[in-house]
Amino acid sequence: MSENSFATDIHIGLTAPLKHISSKYFYDDIGSGIFQDIMKMPEYYPTPCEFEILSLQSDQIFNRLGFDKAFSVVEFGAGDGVKTRQLLKKLIENGADFSYVPIDISKKAIDELVENMRTHLPELKIAPKVGNYFSMMEELSGSDTPSLFLFLGGNIGNYEQEQVKGLLSDFRRNMKAGDKLLTGFDLQKNPATIRCAYDDPQGITKAFNINLLHRINRELGGNFNTTQFDFYSHYNPLNGEVRSYLVSLSPQKVFVQETNHTYSFERNELIWTELSKKYKIPEIEQVATENGFTVVEHFLDCKHYFNDSLWTLS
Ligand code: AVJ
Repeated sequence: MSENSFATDIHIGLTAPLKHISSKYFYDDIGSGIFQDIMKMPEYYPTPCEFEILSLQSDQIFNRLGFDKAFSVVEFGAGDGVKTRQLLKKLIENGADFSYVPIDISKKAIDELVENMRTHLPELKIAPKVGNYFSMMEELSGSDTPSLFLFLGGNIGNYEQEQVKGLLSDFRRNMKAGDKLLTGFDLQKNPATIRCAYDDPQGITKAFNINLLHRINRELGGNFNTTQFDFYSHYNPLNGEVRSYLVSLSPQKVFVQETNHTYSFERNELIWTELSKKYKIPEIEQVATENGFTVVEHFLDCKHYFNDSLWTLS
């Protein structure tokens, strides 16, 4: 087997009893572009909801930080930064002395974000970092500068319960007393609203999923015939989980050069691609408490679709 961790993960995922590909592999340059298109869909409510929260409630968020000296705003997986910019703008207007530290594994994403901030917020102090979240976080954790950590957009919804614990313990380990964490949680709502957001009529979400197969073809020398796969997404309102799948439309074999392996698919066999968990407020509070955090305040949009929840260490 190659040393390529994408290849290793694909091999493990496609030889498992329930085939799976991690949603973290959605975000190559093409997939990140398709996700930008998802964020513009009328059905995809999380983006405008979080935009509203950060546009209208950032003064309140600032007031709850309680920092008495210069601080850092450290963001994990910043994306295009349009939503975060609303918060940063309000911090500047409040005369806050801070620098913004966006962290992303994609250099392209960071370059575009910096460009965007320079254009719209020229006075912003920005210290971008390209790399793995937690190695970057450890680099920062030596300083005694108070920090606000941002994990926005509902990315936490992609983590299984056990993985949430691991993620929050990584955050906790790198935070010091007084530091704050603002996390975006998508909330449970009318199931039909959620279903439409994750299975849109235009097929943009399908293209986002099919891109995983194109990516295997491009990067690992796979020979997926992508017309032989469909997309299926299911929302279970009993546990708040959206689970998405690719569906093999025929019995077929796919060879991947990089793993030097042939994978067989039965007709209607699934490849699980994503969990996108929707939370209830009491569940969020339980997750905070169980993982050593205290909720400072929940910031919800007017429709109560989304929650940017501000926490501190217990
Ligand atoms: C980027 C993880 C927040 O789960 O809503 C959008 C990704 N998947 N449509 C989400 C996604 C399908 C998105 N996150």
